[in-house]
Amino acid sequence: MMKPMRCQVCGEVYLGEQVPDRCPFCGAAGRQMVHAAEWIDYDKLDLDQGDLEKCRTALGFEISNWTFYKCCVNKAGNIFNQAIFKRLAKQEMEHAEVLARMMGEEMPAFTEESCPDNDKEKFEEAHLREHRAIKYYLESASAARHPRVKEVFRALSEIETEHLQISNVYK
Ligand SMILES: [Fe+2]
Ligand SMILES: [Fe+2]
Repeated sequence: MMKPMRCQVCGEVYLGEQVPDRCPFCGAAGRQMVHAAEWIDYDKLDLDQGDLEKCRTALGFEISNWTFYKCCVNKAGNIFNQAIFKRLAKQEMEHAEVLARMMGEEMPAFTEESCPDNDKEKFEEAHLREHRAIKYYLESASAARHPRVKEVFRALSEIETEHLQISNVYK
């Protein structure tokens, strides 16, 4: 029987018969998908200056990676690689929205990102970008004060770890 499930990381709703193994929107692990009636709305958080700065830096990474992957979609050499970049772009957009909502801010203006012509080099750059994000999220999750910030940073580090794995497609 179809039931509404809601992601505890990004807040998007999934209708289905079974819990998906990943959130189809932000890529969070299936355990983050809860029954819609049990979903907790964290909305805007009351953050101290340190946590706010951490979220702002994270938002900058997400926007930058989102824009980079959009460039990769447009310049992909084949439809297989294009499909991967398309999914990564969408997930980074969801991550940016999660962070902006936690901070109670509008999404900032876009940065311009370029990307290499060659797909192998695109994946190499993706690897570096994901590595940087994972490192940042793990360090910041321990340093953050607010439990929800810690939780979201850990969830995002898990998702970016999967991005890192998929960026090794040509290795
Ligand atoms: Fe999600
Ligand atoms: Fe992300």
